[in-house]
Amino acid sequence: MATLAELAAARAGLDEATIDHLLRLTASWSLLADLAFSDLVLMAPEIVGAGAEGQLVVLGQVRPNNRATVITADLVGTAHRADDWPLVRRALADGERVTGYASPEVIGEPTLVWAVPVRVSGTVVAALVRLQGPMRGPSSLYEQAYLSIFVRLCDMVAASTFPFREDDVAGPGLPRVGDGIILLDGAGRVDFATPNAVNALHRVGVSASVEGRTLPELGLHLRALERARAFAMPTLEELDRGIDVAIVFHCVPLLEAERPSAVMVLVRDVSDLRRLNRVVLSKEAAVREVHHRVKNNLQTISSLLRLQARRSAERETRTALLEAERRVRSIAVVHEVLSREPGEDVSFDEIVRSLVLLVEDTVLALHPVEIVVSGELGVLATDVATPLAVVLAELLTNAVEHAFVDFTVGDPDPVGVVTLRLARDGEHAVAEVRDNGVGVGADFSLDAPTSLGLSIVRDLVRTQLRGRIDVTTMGPQSGGGTLVRVEVPLVAWR
Ligand SMILES: Nc1ncnc2c1ncn2[C@@H]1O[C@H](COP(=O)(O)OP(=O)(O)OP(=O)(O)O)[C@@H](O)[C@H]1O
Ligand SMILES: [Mg+2]
Repeated sequence: MATLAELAAARAGLDEATIDHLLRLTASWSLLADLAFSDLVLMAPEIVGAGAEGQLVVLGQVRPNNRATVITADLVGTAHRADDWPLVRRALADGERVTGYASPEVIGEPTLVWAVPVRVSGTVVAALVRLQGPMRGPSSLYEQAYLSIFVRLCDMVAASTFPFREDDVAGPGLPRVGDGIILLDGAGRVDFATPNAVNALHRVGVSASVEGRTLPELGLHLRALERARAFAMPTLEELDRGIDVAIVFHCVPLLEAERPSAVMVLVRDVSDLRRLNRVVLSKEAAVREVHHRVKNNLQTISSLLRLQARRSAERETRTALLEAERRVRSIAVVHEVLSREPGEDVSFDEIVRSLVLLVEDTVLALHPVEIVVSGELGVLATDVATPLAVVLAELLTNAVEHAFVDFTVGDPDPVGVVTLRLARDGEHAVAEVRDNGVGVGADFSLDAPTSLGLSIVRDLVRTQLRGRIDVTTMGPQSGGGTLVRVEVPLVAWR
């Protein structure tokens, strides 16, 4: 099915600015349909093409929430002979609102029809058509009040002052069944308030009868109301009473000759919504706290390992314990970052910074080595970030630990350099750890059972991350040393 924008461009030949205006109109016209207790249809003359002369195309259609619809069919995109809609044709031609009874084919019986010209930059581009179903007896006070607002809004549509240009500020938005409405007259006195509006006012502590009084007299001081009047544009304000009550007041000025002559205040009780938000926020805080505790626990484990290492007499045991301590800490780094910004995703570049510090901390004292990081990976799913952090910690440690065995502290030349290059390559994260040291040797194989470090790396990359890893010894002409390239797919992790 074609959208309003597509129909307006292709069938009615309207330009972008006009289409934008119509989109803003239809964004809030569900409110209009409710105020009119009627179906609304937006019609525009179809551009003259083969057989389209004198035809109208329906760009949009909306049904009221508070009445039964009179149009069961989906009219959007259908074409109609202008002769069958004489009121619409007149409104389009004269630029005035036309009302009367008609029997449109789509309804099949006499119906009250209003045709309201939609004016954009001085030109009538379409007609907003109200099709009213049978009224049940004489209309109530509240129906009359709704209709009086509808009439004012129709005048604004014809005068091009509705929809508001500043819609992104606070257009009437999508009204919901249950929104209350307060109509304030030119002097700011309550003309009428719907029962739902009165309920909402009760909730913010206004229990007096409201008719004929101004909101400040009732103890409600809304800056939004003053702004709506002063700037002739819609405004929003939320009033909270304690933590249980939250009411949003949406002030929509009703303009006459571009000056506000009245204000429609839509009143929405959002207490339940706010309560839900609080629950979600406290869940987020809980997740953050969990990461914080996991990090603390990992740090405790790593301290225990360090203590134990210090107490062991054998060098080998001590080394093993210190290695284990470092591995635990590289996992803690990820939780540390997650405890600051919990979620499914985590900023990997922040993790990298901590990892480099960690490696420098642990092994750099052994050798005069420089660690250089270039590029970035941005935000990664935590499922990728945790194993990848461990992998990089192992590779950086290996480079610092093994590549420069021949170098010693105080040796001015040559200086060992380890580079970590990070990049996104399409749907892959690529990390390269490169050193200019001794290289891994000709008989090196990643698949031969080796010591623990590279086994961990291999298993994490291949099995857990479903990626690939290549270890290459660089020839002397390319600077020598070892290049380890890790490539991990990112799509599978969503
Ligand atoms: N960048 C490198 N340059 C030179 N040799 C390396 C490099 N990376 C790894 N190696 C060699 O590969 C071997 C295996 O590495 P691996 O990380 O699996 O074990 P390890 O570092 O010796 O011990 P650990 O289990 O503590 O990591 C190393 O002992 C080392 O000889
Ligand atoms: Mg190692």
